[in-house]
Amino acid sequence: MHDFHYQGGHLCCEGVPLERIAEEVGTPCYVYSRSALEKQFRRFGAAFAAKPHLTCFAVKANSNLSILRFLSRLGSGFDVVSGGELYRVLKAGADPGKVVFSGVGKSPQEILEAMEAGILLFNAESPQELDLLESLARGKRRVARVSLRVNPDVDPKTHPYTATGLRQHKFGIPAEEAPALARKLRSSRWLRLVCVGCHIGSQITELGPFVDAVSKIKKLWLQVRDEGSPLRFLDVGGGLGITYGNEHPPELEEYASAVLGEIGDLDCTLLLEPGRVIVGNAGVLLTRVLYTKSNREKLFSVVDAAMNDLIRPSLYNSFHQIWPESKGSRPLRVMDVVGPVCESGDFFARDRRLPQFRPGELVALLSAGAYGFVFASNYNSRPRAAEVLVHRDRYRVIRRRETYGDLIRPE
Ligand SMILES: Cc1ncc(COP(=O)(O)O)c(C=O)c1O
Repeated sequence: MHDFHYQGGHLCCEGVPLERIAEEVGTPCYVYSRSALEKQFRRFGAAFAAKPHLTCFAVKANSNLSILRFLSRLGSGFDVVSGGELYRVLKAGADPGKVVFSGVGKSPQEILEAMEAGILLFNAESPQELDLLESLARGKRRVARVSLRVNPDVDPKTHPYTATGLRQHKFGIPAEEAPALARKLRSSRWLRLVCVGCHIGSQITELGPFVDAVSKIKKLWLQVRDEGSPLRFLDVGGGLGITYGNEHPPELEEYASAVLGEIGDLDCTLLLEPGRVIVGNAGVLLTRVLYTKSNREKLFSVVDAAMNDLIRPSLYNSFHQIWPESKGSRPLRVMDVVGPVCESGDFFARDRRLPQFRPGELVALLSAGAYGFVFASNYNSRPRAAEVLVHRDRYRVIRRRETYGDLIRPE
């Protein structure tokens, strides 16, 4: 699943001891395994090999330029949701013809930038967005390819903040409105409807919601195509979950065979937008224990990473395994692992049984490769962490640690 393991009692990423990275780069620090990333990306593609497809990595999961460049070299396309993400993928050398642009709030400026770049298609999420796309395409005298991102009203059974495919969510076009919009698009000179798709949420650990969503989208796809739209693609979005703790998400191959089984012999190219499942387990957040302290009720380990570095526990109450860098046997104690930020919500573990940590020792928060650094902020005027990419027995700093100067530069 990942390439972090103990060698001689010390935690390593591929062939590099995390202790060495901490000494040379400092902490907190994100560490990614290139081989884990590559394995997972290739495995994903292989699972869908039976059908023409394009994997568009969801840039929001991890947008480091070196990671994007590496995925691009492996043949990945990209799903972007902002002008900034588009800027990053272009800087990383991505083929714009493999980029899809999603999101409910694309600004006119962002749309123009994407048209200029010549992206594959826009995942349109509302009639007003289609009107804007049309007028901007007309202004440029250039046809734009669009997809109807449909809300299939399916419960993905995930955290409410990462569920996106239910009727009450802001995402997508109601399924019943799609055929009329497709009809309107058929008479448009400047927009070409080439795709229908959906994205129902993230960290989904059951196949049922994917199957329900794909089945609904397929029916709609056939109806729209049979009524005369030149559909070439069907976009199934992303969302497959990973194991952080006790979850048992479907294996990639099970997911792919469920999706492919539902799609059957539909004459289309699949667009896939995985994020977390590609990069989530390829990264850890390496941090150092600063202090241990106790009161009558609790034991705390205070580490040098905080919610500004990895917000998932604070935001979603999510679970990350915490492994000591040095394995040796020692007593387990129930403790909270917390950061230095002045919020009680700044925690990585609560009432968790963990080895009794010592001040100065290193620990790793596992499965931090997705929705980790991308969510980092400067809260409490904390410079953002460094990022490191490991390849076999070498590593490279792929984002330097921010300085105090970086904190005030734009002010
Ligand atoms: C439009 C879209 N596509 C793809 C993804 C990627 O999801 P995940 O990282 O769960 O695969 C997201 C994230 O929620 C998204 O909003």
